[in-house]
Amino acid sequence: MMRSFVVFIAAAAMLAASVPSASQEQLKARIMSYNVRNGVGYDNNRDIARTANVILRQQPDVVAIQEVDSVTGRSGGRYVLGDLAAATGMHATFAPAIDYDGGKYGIGMLSREEPLSVKRVALPGREEARALLIAEFPAYVAACTHLSLTPADAEASVAIIREAARAAGKPLILCGDFNSYPDSPVIKHLEESFKRVCDDKPTFPAPEPKEKIDFMMISKDSGARCLGYRVVEAPVESDHRPVVADIYLPVPADRIIYHQPYLQNMSQDGAVTVMYQTRPICTSSVEYGTDTINTLSERQLIGGQEAVHDIEHRVRLTGLKPGQRYFYRVRAREITENQGYYKSFGNESVTPWHTFTVPSPAQKDFTAVIVNDMHCFPATISAMAKVAMQQNPDFVVFNGDCMAEPGSRSQAIHDIHLMADAFGLADRPGVFIRGNHEIRNAYSSGQTSLVDRNDGLTYGAFNWGDTRFVTLDCGEDKPDTTWVYYGLNNFSRLRQEQTEFIKNELASKEFKKAGRRVLIHHIPVWGNTDSYQPCTRLWAPLLSKAPFDINITAHVHEYNRIDPKRGENPFPVIVGGGYDLDGATVTVLRRQGDSMSVTVLGADGRTIDAFQF
Ligand SMILES: [Fe+2]
Repeated sequence: MMRSFVVFIAAAAMLAASVPSASQEQLKARIMSYNVRNGVGYDNNRDIARTANVILRQQPDVVAIQEVDSVTGRSGGRYVLGDLAAATGMHATFAPAIDYDGGKYGIGMLSREEPLSVKRVALPGREEARALLIAEFPAYVAACTHLSLTPADAEASVAIIREAARAAGKPLILCGDFNSYPDSPVIKHLEESFKRVCDDKPTFPAPEPKEKIDFMMISKDSGARCLGYRVVEAPVESDHRPVVADIYLPVPADRIIYHQPYLQNMSQDGAVTVMYQTRPICTSSVEYGTDTINTLSERQLIGGQEAVHDIEHRVRLTGLKPGQRYFYRVRAREITENQGYYKSFGNESVTPWHTFTVPSPAQKDFTAVIVNDMHCFPATISAMAKVAMQQNPDFVVFNGDCMAEPGSRSQAIHDIHLMADAFGLADRPGVFIRGNHEIRNAYSSGQTSLVDRNDGLTYGAFNWGDTRFVTLDCGEDKPDTTWVYYGLNNFSRLRQEQTEFIKNELASKEFKKAGRRVLIHHIPVWGNTDSYQPCTRLWAPLLSKAPFDINITAHVHEYNRIDPKRGENPFPVIVGGGYDLDGATVTVLRRQGDSMSVTVLGADGRTIDAFQF
């Protein structure tokens, strides 16, 4: 794993410039610049291990090295940079400036990771030729130089360095022994294209530094910035003291948006929520339209401001036309620095175009797929998704225990994308109903923010065509007082709330006027094999008199169809299977004209059950 790809959690909150939240990704690199004088200290002792220790103590990702020999007579035929690389466990890149004493002399770079590409550029120097070494890494480019002692040649080098920074295409971090003072024309000219990372604290001579000639700079407007800088206490190991800085790097464009967006809370009133997560903090928007040319743009506003405090995004598109097909895509740009009176921005990412069709009260026909109890098993998910996608569903219902017990936000995001990506939720909405496993573990309460239902409720009702869907949240499968919940749960109240919701729903105009009525929840009210059955006790009296056409449930891990029975379930009940490949089921609910059918398929696509009602 690259060390510079660091996921900050609590530590990042200490940075004053922006206060990131859990799971936010920030990249940083620790860069060092060191004129090593060939490993010969101020005491004239040649001691590579001593030089290496100065480097090792700083734990840098990259070290720009000046004054280093390759197989010269004066260095005893040693490849000094190679010796430093071996002693530090880093990768060596050498850039010769001149031929010297049977070998070469110049600059180099040590890096934890092998550079993606390396370039050597000649720089002028009439007393001795100079070089610029450029090494590309995934999120930045590091450049090392040792500028000429002749001011005119050092100044002439500036234009060449600027051109290299312009061509880099990534933040360029320029380091080296510039043989120039902070107020010199060389530094002033460089500062037109670079912002200085280092302060004016002297670096030379090492025992008691008086002169500032070792520098570090970042290309301007690149989104990179310095998080901390210091001159390293190293009084004898060379004639220079090294400098080291932690550099914040903008997240590369291809890592900004986490996978693809997913659709939630589709309403045939003409609205849908586009949900997506970004790795860094971003400004973002959804472009949408009936074609990809004439588009509108919408973003998430809170009290008149774009929501830029978090990596979770939900953009509600409204005013859509029922029955109409739309295109949409997400655009996001990293905010690398967000202060009251100063902001800077990093890379931008745009997703491919996706499509959705808004349901319409006039269009009764639909195909819905209901899955359950996949328990995050990759083989089951991919097999069931394959079977489900062959049905080209208008929407997908996840009827509980599909994801793992969410221990952290990053796990919850990972798991929801397992479902969203496999079942194509960028192009059709998904309805997430909680099972008893999604409501366990440290992040179970946080997971609700990754879905969009009715005003944050975990139960509710919606229409697709003239079919009314009612979904319930059954809570845990053991009493709230069970010791493993440590008193943190109150599902009794949630079920009580839903008793009122069911009463209101059954009396509502939407329910009464519906052509068909479907009830979906995780734990069965009829056919449950658990000893604790609060949903049956509370809701069976109401539901046994309700005119639903079908009840689709889960939880038992064995497929079952319970035929209607007077005084109990007046409608057929489906209990979906799970979670191994042999037992998993994909329930296909299809409305065609006035008929409705259920086809239950196995994970291998075979038909397990099929009936009309
Ligand atoms: Fe369950």
